[in-house]
Amino acid sequence: MKFLKENLLDHLQRPEFADLHASLVRRTLPKGAFVSQPGVGENRIFIVKKGRARVYLGYEAKEFNLGILTKGDIYSTHTGTFVQALDEIEVLVADVETFRRKMVGDPEVTKAMVRVLGNILNTSFSIIDGLVFKDVNARLVALLANEARRHGSPGDRGGVIVRLDLSVEQVARLVGSSRQTVSTLLNDLSRAGLIQRPERGTFLIPDLSALESVGGMRQ
Ligand code: HEM
Repeated sequence: MKFLKENLLDHLQRPEFADLHASLVRRTLPKGAFVSQPGVGENRIFIVKKGRARVYLGYEAKEFNLGILTKGDIYSTHTGTFVQALDEIEVLVADVETFRRKMVGDPEVTKAMVRVLGNILNTSFSIIDGLVFKDVNARLVALLANEARRHGSPGDRGGVIVRLDLSVEQVARLVGSSRQTVSTLLNDLSRAGLIQRPERGTFLIPDLSALESVGGMRQ
């Protein structure tokens, strides 16, 4: 993550923080080691002094990267995320009590926290977006394609005509989403030339296989 001109480490080097700096414990970890894992170890706050670490959510074989911590970034061990060293890493560790007493009111610490958490939130939004809306897209495509295969009729100039005779609201309920999302997705499919909407409730699918491949129904 990008750090500002004066990062938290430079800031902590100032003479007025000598006492605080002295209370931070330096730890060096090799590449691949975990700086923290959910539910493992004590509750600590740490600042990256050297190297980089990957922050991710993990469950069985699935992993979602949330961000990369670099020099001057601050993070904690109680976040429910894995933090793994990407290179040899050096961190300055504080227990929560020290953090609360000596660092929590410092604007530079707040800035560093906001920067790190902002980046992670940003990535979390795009993960949610992918999980929720891309799934809806696949369900919407499946609905249109299945109707086309089962009840479609050939179009005058090729393609398949599907008469759903459902409002966007009703389609949204079928695919478990909102009217606004389905409306946006239908517009996206139209713009991509995968569907046409000659009249309300009716769709023309010029190339059914192409539509199915977009919805992940065909490889
Ligand atoms: C920049 C990174 C972070 C720092 C420096 C930090 C620091 C702290 C501190 C000092 C406390 C108070 C602990 C106490 O007084 O006992 C706290 C509480 C808490 N933090 Fe964080 N935190 C960070 C990130 C996060 C993240 C990413 C999450 C969630 C995903 C999180 C979840 C919580 C929760 C739920 C509490 C309340 C715990 C309780 O009082 O029961 N924190 N944090």
